[in-house]
Amino acid sequence: MELNELQRRVLRLKEEKNALLLVHNYQVPEIQVLADHLGDSLELCREAQGVTDADMIVFCGVDFMAETAAVLNPDKKVVLPSLKARCPMAAMLPVEVIREAKAQHPGAPVVLYVNTLAEAKAEATVTCTSANADKIIRKLGAETVIFGPDRNLAYFVGRRVPGVEIIPVPGDGHCNVHRYIGDGDEAMELKRKHPGAEVWAHPECEPAFQDRADYVLSTGGMVRRARESPADVFIVGTELGLIDRLARENPGKTFLPAKVHAECGAMKRITLENLYAALINEEPVVTVPEDVASGARVAIERMLEMSV
Ligand code: 13P
Ligand code: SF4
Repeated sequence: MELNELQRRVLRLKEEKNALLLVHNYQVPEIQVLADHLGDSLELCREAQGVTDADMIVFCGVDFMAETAAVLNPDKKVVLPSLKARCPMAAMLPVEVIREAKAQHPGAPVVLYVNTLAEAKAEATVTCTSANADKIIRKLGAETVIFGPDRNLAYFVGRRVPGVEIIPVPGDGHCNVHRYIGDGDEAMELKRKHPGAEVWAHPECEPAFQDRADYVLSTGGMVRRARESPADVFIVGTELGLIDRLARENPGKTFLPAKVHAECGAMKRITLENLYAALINEEPVVTVPEDVASGARVAIERMLEMSV
């Protein structure tokens, strides 16, 4: 893909300022191609761990991702090109709800999806992503686990790690984008037209769709499966930005959205224009107060240790 003038300017500024550009798979393609690292939540968390060879981190993703980078790099400037890039799911779990659940289930570990704000993470035993949630819960070996905020990821984990009682906090935490994909009726209709196609659902999708899909995968899992699978057609049950990446990296294979308008408005708040402005101005900066960050850091670092 030939770069346009603004993309070239972004790359030049990135060099001049020695900035590390971390980009989530749901970002627009013109930003994806500029990334130092393009990935899912877990991969980006790993890349953000103890960054030493860059003077600043610019995160093209949503609030909780930039916060995580700030927690892991307390002395580094972390820039999120738009503070309006806020994940609605991350705002669904207030700290009081976690404390209440802890009081009701004393001793139960608290496993929180990284799609939470730093204050919530500070209450967690360990965080998880959709790529490692089952592994982490299996390793904990607890009978009861307090888990939040995504109800559908809780369902996914319950299926993969039977015998563990999962207490969801809050009762109905969810992602609007994946809920909109629904029970996968359109995906199944597409599968009838393309009988050899693989159907993929993200763990944030509704349980009924997870049950009908051939694979339930994180976005990073989808990237790997696309390379390895012998199939030519894939019906992709997640946010549309990933489809751009899959199509670019797998010429000759066809990727069809499970739902045509499954777009995350929060992710799309980041544009090439505000990325350029953020590099010039070195703001907006995301900071997490150290009293919150220290607790959140323990939970995030524990996740990184447990998921190797
Ligand atoms: P992953 O990229 O980790 O699969 O997560 C998807 C997501 O919704 C991030 O907000
Ligand atoms: Fe949040 Fe859903 Fe957007 Fe992911 S896709 S950032 S969970 S709203």
